[in-house]
Amino acid sequence: MVAIGSDHAAASLRQIVKQYLEDQEIPYIDCGTDESPSDYPEIAKTVCGKIQSGEADTGILLCGTGIGMSMAANKMKGIRAAVCTETYSAKYTRLHNDANVLCMGARVVGEGLAREILDTFLFTEFEGGRHQRRIDMIAELEK
Ligand code: RB5
Repeated sequence: MVAIGSDHAAASLRQIVKQYLEDQEIPYIDCGTDESPSDYPEIAKTVCGKIQSGEADTGILLCGTGIGMSMAANKMKGIRAAVCTETYSAKYTRLHNDANVLCMGARVVGEGLAREILDTFLFTEFEGGRHQRRIDMIAELEK
């Protein structure tokens, strides 16, 4: 299950992402928002809360740059959020970091690139092995 959220700056990109998920038959929870203006930390908290509770295993957070969302998301326990502006980062943040939240900026990526980043992020598996030890070290930092 994917939980998705955006602030006002990325409301239209959120609709594009929802259409992508429907095309791929990937179930999702839309955490909003259609309010304008809105505060991205609140949306990040709601989406990441779905991961923490086990309702979702992946989050997609969208704002103007993707950066504010990632900063807020990474304050939450168990969340590994990555801002991706191209597919190389989307691939390796899954392979090496086991990222569970993808952040994108609606003022940074266009629709075509956003779809390619989604494809890469959602369909790349964590490599495990030596990378698991480093993920465990990140979890230690949360304590
Ligand atoms: C909203 O104007 C903008 O600050 C927000 O969407 C985001 O880019 C913050 O990181």
